[in-house]
Amino acid sequence: MGSKARMGFGPLLFHCVLLALLVASSHGVIVGSSNGGGSLAECNLFQGSWVYDESYPLYDSASCPFISSIGFDCLKSGRPDRKYLQYRWKPDGCDLPRFDGEDFLQRMRGKTITFVGDSISKNQRDSLACLLHAAVPNTSVSYSDPSGSVHFKDYNVTVTRFLAQYLVDIVPEKIGRVLKLDSVQQNGQDWLGADVLIFNSFLWWNRSNPGRPWDYIQDGNNILNDMNRTEAMAKALNTWARWVDSNIDPNIKKVFYFGIPPIHMHGEDWGERGKTCVGQTEPLMATTYPGGPIPQESIVRGVLGSMAKPVYLLDITFLTQLRKDGHPGRYSGGDCTHWCLAGVPDTWNLLLNAALLEWN
Ligand SMILES: *[C@@H]1O[C@H](CO)[C@@H](O)[C@H](O)[C@H]1NC(C)=O
Ligand SMILES: *[C@@H]1O[C@H](CO)[C@@H](O)[C@H](O)[C@H]1NC(C)=O
Ligand SMILES: *[C@@H]1O[C@H](CO)[C@@H](O)[C@H](O)[C@H]1NC(C)=O
Ligand SMILES: *[C@@H]1O[C@H](CO)[C@@H](O)[C@H](O)[C@H]1NC(C)=O
Repeated sequence: MGSKARMGFGPLLFHCVLLALLVASSHGVIVGSSNGGGSLAECNLFQGSWVYDESYPLYDSASCPFISSIGFDCLKSGRPDRKYLQYRWKPDGCDLPRFDGEDFLQRMRGKTITFVGDSISKNQRDSLACLLHAAVPNTSVSYSDPSGSVHFKDYNVTVTRFLAQYLVDIVPEKIGRVLKLDSVQQNGQDWLGADVLIFNSFLWWNRSNPGRPWDYIQDGNNILNDMNRTEAMAKALNTWARWVDSNIDPNIKKVFYFGIPPIHMHGEDWGERGKTCVGQTEPLMATTYPGGPIPQESIVRGVLGSMAKPVYLLDITFLTQLRKDGHPGRYSGGDCTHWCLAGVPDTWNLLLNAALLEWN
């Protein structure tokens, strides 16, 4: 995996990174660690394997009131197999810290944690709300629909989500809805109130036209019917990066970029030509993914690396690629894009938790 070099900080590289954080705000830094003390700092959290663990799942989906899409609740949808609920991510060089929901809420007191992006962000937001709720089931919580904002009153912690499939703005104009590669002003208003931001944007760039929420793309002064989506995504990410660089004070706020989320529509990616996620009941036990990295991962790294402010790359692509068994599949219209809850998004949040513990 290309991420190794960046994320697997040995002590030496770690010091360089720390130095870069301290000295230069003109150099791009993808944060992987900023705490030299523990073993976490020297461990690549994103390189490892899935191990069967009977103590999982981390919560019972039936007692989580925050699963916003019926499709995410695979048990309720009738999925009969259960092994997929019981895999724990084990980084090669360390153990992922156990998720202590009460401790998380204490640490986050007074803060708002905001997931921004497409429905994958919703998947992850629901998971975090379920994990926290399972830890403090009797605490007072308010839940506002449709924004899907969950407020844990005793801790004054809000977990919320903003829909922005492309991060950049979609503006209704006379000609129709225009996707503006150069503008994030409107969406950015929603993000200013957050203390921890987790951004995710990929799936809608990579899909063809059906259901798209825009009519034209504006690139500079040009209004286009469509364009190379990979190039459009790179431009939009640069626009987003400029917003972060000019609006985020990293002493107060933490920004995460969620690595490219894989789908499991093409069995040849994992050596089962002709299959999809449907009927998969076990992860791929492998140290590399046969289908290789997703090409757009390098765009994300390039943009994050060019930024002035530190952004932590939650580099979940590889570990998620292995989980062909984690999708709703036939129990939700053949869905090989989203993820069952409990399930893989819980691990994304364990990684977010580990990152927040490291990055202080
Ligand atoms: C909750 O947190 C917000 C944001 O930090 C703060 O403005 C507000 O005063 C807090 N409310 C309580 C009741 O502590
Ligand atoms: C929550 O409340 C229920 C019913 O009052 C009680 O049985 C349970 O032990 C409580 N759970 C926790 C973690 O306090
Ligand atoms: C889109 O642009 C990318 C990056 O420049 C390039 O690799 C890819 O081949 C292009 N795709 C098409 C369909 O032209
Ligand atoms: C991106 O779109 C292509 C073409 O539809 C598809 O084959 C590929 O699986 C998609 N990649 C991801 C990671 O979603």
